[in-house]
Amino acid sequence: MRLLFIGDVVGRPGREVLAAAMPDLRAERMPDLVVVNGENAAGGVGVTEETADEIFSAGADVITLGNHTYRHREVYPYLDSEQRILRPMNFPASNPGHGHTIAEAAGMRVAVINLSGQMHLQVERSPFPAIDELLESLTGAADAIVVDFHAELTSEKVAMGWHLDGRVAAVLGTHTHVPTADGRVLPGGTAHITDVGMTGSRAGVIGVRREQALEALRTQMPVRFDTADQDLWLMGAAVEVGDDGLARGIDQILVPVSP
Ligand SMILES: [Fe+2]
Ligand SMILES: [Fe+2]
Repeated sequence: MRLLFIGDVVGRPGREVLAAAMPDLRAERMPDLVVVNGENAAGGVGVTEETADEIFSAGADVITLGNHTYRHREVYPYLDSEQRILRPMNFPASNPGHGHTIAEAAGMRVAVINLSGQMHLQVERSPFPAIDELLESLTGAADAIVVDFHAELTSEKVAMGWHLDGRVAAVLGTHTHVPTADGRVLPGGTAHITDVGMTGSRAGVIGVRREQALEALRTQMPVRFDTADQDLWLMGAAVEVGDDGLARGIDQILVPVSP
């Protein structure tokens, strides 16, 4: 089973990059399952039904989210009704949406899980016991498991890789928007990368126009943030998963795109 995983799509430039890049990526990587983090899809923060539709139309099978999940209130009913869009599973259970789904890919039942770190991010439960409990409940229900670990700190993200090594096919980091160079298959057979990076403009500061981000940092005053739109890239990872549900390899994807 070939998984294509794409990091945080930021605003309209990110959505356009995704749509423009997918045909070539499909031809080159022949993915059976495409998972896209869409937490920044709508105006750079959060997601709406329309922007999620755009990501699905571009070829995503599953959309994962993160700390910006609830930015747009009008999306809440959609998060409840659409099984293919996920919010972190360690948010309060009563919150809109759900934290995992099971997708069919290359004859396998692939559980895709969205999980949030707890350091510098708000969650109800520590991701470590929360994921243990979910994996327990998935016994017999999935042939392979993919985790989008949406977290801030490299230490917590590396630790989650070790925590899940041998139990899931992949632990792929999102949220920082900066790709790390540590993609590898851990000894137990779990593909891990601390962060796959973002899809959108590299000309700004993790997606925001750089002059606005710099003004905010220089003046320490509130500044309106717009989405940067120059120097567009798609960032992600491709993971090959064997019939045993463990990874055979992970390739980082960092490609400049002109929509
Ligand atoms: Fe993000
Ligand atoms: Fe985030």
